[in-house]
Amino acid sequence: MKIAIDGPAGSGKSTIAKKLASKLNIEYIDTGAMYRALAYYMNQNNLSLEELKINMETLNIEFKEERTFINGKDISDFIRTNEVSSLASKISKDKDIREKLVDLQRKLADKVSCVMEGRDITSVVLKDAEYKFYLDANSKVRAIRRKNDLKGKDKNISLDKLIEEIEERDLRDKTRENSPLKLTEDSIYIDTSYMDVDEVVDKITSYIGD
Ligand code: DC
Repeated sequence: MKIAIDGPAGSGKSTIAKKLASKLNIEYIDTGAMYRALAYYMNQNNLSLEELKINMETLNIEFKEERTFINGKDISDFIRTNEVSSLASKISKDKDIREKLVDLQRKLADKVSCVMEGRDITSVVLKDAEYKFYLDANSKVRAIRRKNDLKGKDKNISLDKLIEEIEERDLRDKTRENSPLKLTEDSIYIDTSYMDVDEVVDKITSYIGD
């Protein structure tokens, strides 16, 4: 069974996909973490986009127990910063980067039943998934969720700044030429603005059955 979930930043995708996967006892695959892993690697090594693309060929991105590894190093705790979020969104516009990661995502999904979440899962990566959902929420709610997730110096960023950044990121993710975030005709749309995690998981499960 394949369940594809798309939606903008802060729509609750990750939390909900994780919980849903655990409820159904299937794998959870976070594709945003892959774009974030590349962005983090690029930043750490001061690489240009072209250099990243060359290095990418030999990079080993892996997932084990919901942790993200790059060349064997666990980078999970470093990929949720504001800086990495913004860089991940920028590099995700690139066609070669997308090709490489879509290939990796399809290989991972090929072997298992899974809940996979991202921006182009319903439209590109798992076009044939049995179940497709698009999660959304208004930008203020999403910024508040994001603020609660931030750690360290990022905690001081104002809500207004976070709303501005989230809207900027949405625009980039929705208007890019390659695989933009969009609501496909066969996806079920859920506005999570005023729903808690369990309510959303229950709603999704009501379409799937458990
Ligand atoms: O879901 P996230 O916030 O962790 O994703 C980080 C960025 O990666 C997001 O701004 C756009 C990009 N992304 C993408 O282009 N395609 C995906 N399937 C997942 C993420």
